[in-house]
Amino acid sequence: MREFPLTLNRFITQNQASHQAATEEFSGLLTQIGLVGKLISEDLRRAGLINILGTTGDTNVQGETVKKLDAIANDDFVKVFQHSGYVCALASEEMEKPISMPGNWPQGKYMLLFDPLDGSSNTDNNMPLGAIFSVLKYDRADRLPTEGEMIRRGTEQVAAGYLLYGSSTMLVYTVGQGVYGFTLEPGIGEYLLSHAQVRIPDKGKVYAANEGNYNKWSEGTRKYVDSLKVSDKATGRPYSARYSGCLVADVHRLLLGGGIYLYPGETDKPEGKLRLLYEANPLAFVVEQAGGKASTGTSRIMEVEPKKLHQRVPLIIGSRSDVEQAEAYIQGNA
Ligand code: AHG
Ligand code: MN
Ligand code: MN
Repeated sequence: MREFPLTLNRFITQNQASHQAATEEFSGLLTQIGLVGKLISEDLRRAGLINILGTTGDTNVQGETVKKLDAIANDDFVKVFQHSGYVCALASEEMEKPISMPGNWPQGKYMLLFDPLDGSSNTDNNMPLGAIFSVLKYDRADRLPTEGEMIRRGTEQVAAGYLLYGSSTMLVYTVGQGVYGFTLEPGIGEYLLSHAQVRIPDKGKVYAANEGNYNKWSEGTRKYVDSLKVSDKATGRPYSARYSGCLVADVHRLLLGGGIYLYPGETDKPEGKLRLLYEANPLAFVVEQAGGKASTGTSRIMEVEPKKLHQRVPLIIGSRSDVEQAEAYIQGNA
């Protein structure tokens, strides 16, 4: 007889006793994230056929062009969660203000912050996309969280993860006890455990960065990336360049195979491009839980004190020794 597959729900239930965040409510929340993943992957499978490519004509709060799929994915997250009873507030990269659950709706104790569609420039050319989520706990029952109460350090996350829409759809998450990856089995519509206790190699051979911005980087960053191209057998150089335009896909690659992703600050944009609360913090939690590191270049991502919801941050993330090496160059110590 074949081995019975470990579904996401069964896995969470089995592990409830040992997970601080694994309550029934939490497993419900994760199942809903999985549902969003199913909805989006169904759309993506026929994206070229059903008029969901291209832009909406709007600009979001980040000043970026909104793709139709950004709006669809955001809408799916909101629709799935707003009546679910698992969350009390939602904040999204695509929404200027957070949404709190109105008093007459069921309210959960979690606050969900998300990037509904990551890698938007890939939508129109059948390239990988993702979604990123961060879960915080709200302890008050007497009122809903304010916007300020949603702006927390990464160290306060109780769970985080991502959906990856690649050649398969995956849900990867952590509750602070390692990283687990589930692959959507389309035939039965279930996420099955495919990657247990993911560990990121301590050092990799791949780097991911948009080198078109090279001349806008700091001298330390430029020197670090230059150093990766030097031939040196002993240290495994030169590294290979792999950049997909989708942070989730690039981080997923290095989570499994090792390496480093950099979206550093630039001369005219010292805070870089990526969002602290929706992208950097949740991916930092996942990568740290797999044994890697995430840094601004000078400090740990998850300890950055956030001041606003849509704050941006330079991000250097991946294998421990690669990130430490990049930090040394950026800080002028290499
Ligand atoms: P988003 O689609 O959520 O705005 O995020 C895009 C991010 C990230 O996925 C990717 O690594 C990076 O921005 C790409 O930016 P560049 O086009 O500047 O390289
Ligand atoms: Mn993104
Ligand atoms: Mn996005």
